[in-house]
Amino acid sequence: MLPTDCAGSKAEIATPLVIAPPRHVAIIMDGNGRWARARGLPRIKGHHSGVEAVRRTVKASIELGIGYLTIYSFSSENWRRPAAEVAELMGLLKLFIRRDLADLIRNNVRVRIIGDRVGLSADICNLLDEAQTKSAGNSGLTLTVAFNYGGRQEMVRAAQALARKVASGEIAPDDITEDLIDAHLDTVDIPDPDLLIRTSGEQRLSNFLLWQSAYAELVFLPIFWPDFDRSALEAAINAFHLRERRFGSLESGGANVAT
Ligand code: IPE
Ligand code: IPE
Ligand code: MG
Repeated sequence: MLPTDCAGSKAEIATPLVIAPPRHVAIIMDGNGRWARARGLPRIKGHHSGVEAVRRTVKASIELGIGYLTIYSFSSENWRRPAAEVAELMGLLKLFIRRDLADLIRNNVRVRIIGDRVGLSADICNLLDEAQTKSAGNSGLTLTVAFNYGGRQEMVRAAQALARKVASGEIAPDDITEDLIDAHLDTVDIPDPDLLIRTSGEQRLSNFLLWQSAYAELVFLPIFWPDFDRSALEAAINAFHLRERRFGSLESGGANVAT
């Protein structure tokens, strides 16, 4: 099935035969509110349907052999939304972990959480810790949930940590390299995203994985997040395979496949 666009017509990306998956797929899950509005429903219904799309996407990612799936669930800037919607989004995260953690663990999924814990309630922090700890020994898909996450805020925290190490004499300023900055980001040990998908037709990063996406291939899909499914994921992967990744050189990096 082809993904439909926001107006319900077929998008122009052909349904592919997936050859090899990208190692790391990152997704900006956008359009829940517009999906609901188009149906005369309250925005929260769109967020609920968005959780179903997350379940489908995790399942499809496992089936397709994707190693890392990172999903943007709540941005540092989403606090600007009405308090009632913020509370609903917090509640949905709790519900998702309570309902789905056992299944994720059974499916060998390792859960990682990135973002700032400051500002989150103690019960959410405990659930996030539980999800990470209980799934830490798994070796299948790494599902990273970006919650209360902002790329700029992440870089500020990394810069502060490095500055503290310089101030204490643990490292010298010249010791700071790309690798050392990488090691102080929330995404430490997670490879950079190869494919970054945003749904809903918006074409911006909205503060998602700014450092890590330096050479990600960006695919913008004209469908709302609650309509995302395996065929939409395959369409994005197909678009990814049509790209030539040169990483600044004159030759194709040939890095469009899992390594
Ligand atoms: C994405 O959908 C979910 C979050 C940002 C939490 P939106 O809620 O942004 O939906 P739109 O963009 O208003 O349609
Ligand atoms: C980005 O979507 C954040 C998430 C998907 C969690 P937004 O809907 O918040 O982004 P903007 O405001 O349209 O840039
Ligand atoms: Mg949005």
